[in-house]
Amino acid sequence: MKKIIVIGGGNMGFTYAEGIFNANIADIQIIDKSEERIAEINAMNKMKATSSYDVLVEADLVFLAVKPQIAPLVFEDIKTIVNKEQVFVSVMAGMTIETIQQGLGVNKIIRCMPNLPASIQLGMTTYVGSKEVDKENLALVGSILKSTGKAFEVQNEDMIDSTTGISGSGTAYIFYFMNALATAAQDFGFSSEEAKTLTAQTFEGAIELYKQNDISLEDWMNRVASKGGTTRAALNNFEDNKVHQLIKNGTIACVDRAKELAKDKR
Ligand SMILES: NC(=O)c1ccc[n+]([C@@H]2O[C@H](COP(=O)([O-])OP(=O)(O)OC[C@H]3O[C@@H](n4cnc5c(N)ncnc54)[C@H](OP(=O)(O)O)[C@@H]3O)[C@@H](O)[C@H]2O)c1
Repeated sequence: MKKIIVIGGGNMGFTYAEGIFNANIADIQIIDKSEERIAEINAMNKMKATSSYDVLVEADLVFLAVKPQIAPLVFEDIKTIVNKEQVFVSVMAGMTIETIQQGLGVNKIIRCMPNLPASIQLGMTTYVGSKEVDKENLALVGSILKSTGKAFEVQNEDMIDSTTGISGSGTAYIFYFMNALATAAQDFGFSSEEAKTLTAQTFEGAIELYKQNDISLEDWMNRVASKGGTTRAALNNFEDNKVHQLIKNGTIACVDRAKELAKDKR
């Protein structure tokens, strides 16, 4: 069985560690610097957690799941312990394959872009490997990533930045639209609990219809909206205010920022 070590037992790191543990596909251990977090993880009696980097020598695969600003410090601490045979899987936003290769003096890197619903097995992750990563390891990491939802390989790192603009940051865009809808519901006199039910159930229903049928989103909109009707009044208002274009502009701003951050970290 392969040995996988996750550095950073926070939101993302723990989610992947738990996915690996539950799928029983590898021996898994976590390294974290917070004594409180280590005690918390060990108390669950599932995975072992430690503060020592020494265990890294035993790893086949290392997940890098610390905040990007901490990464250079971690690289300094572990670069004499890790080796070129090991595969490194990074979920760190904006940290390029080249930066990780240079920071650690290794070659085999898989860079991922996950999103927050990974913690409830509804995540969306894209990934790309450096040319030194073989097919077997790419497939293994693909199956690990799928334990937290859906995952697929992209062609290059630019596409990782592009997925940041859609799924990586997209969860927050959806919350933004939901917030507008829930706020409007409360303005119409519904309680916050009723507004939550109205908003969540409307999203859930629309998503299931979209997923379960091969019908375009435009067709779905037309099925709800009849000419001169209530829905058309709302959609016309969105169109007059260029809401579609504004959302698209938001995704472009997000991707531009991802590229900017990646450049800063070089
Ligand atoms: N959360 C998301 O939705 C999301 C989405 C896409 C990508 N990501 C990426 O995922 C990475 C992790 O984010 P997160 O939200 O999981 O952060 P997080 O919850 O803060 O987790 C990071 C963990 O690493 C620990 N840590 C700090 N320094 C360390 C060190 N030197 N060695 C080992 N562990 C150390 C932290 O401990 P302390 O708390 O004591 O510092 C914390 O437990 C980030 O790079 C982020 O860009 C996150």
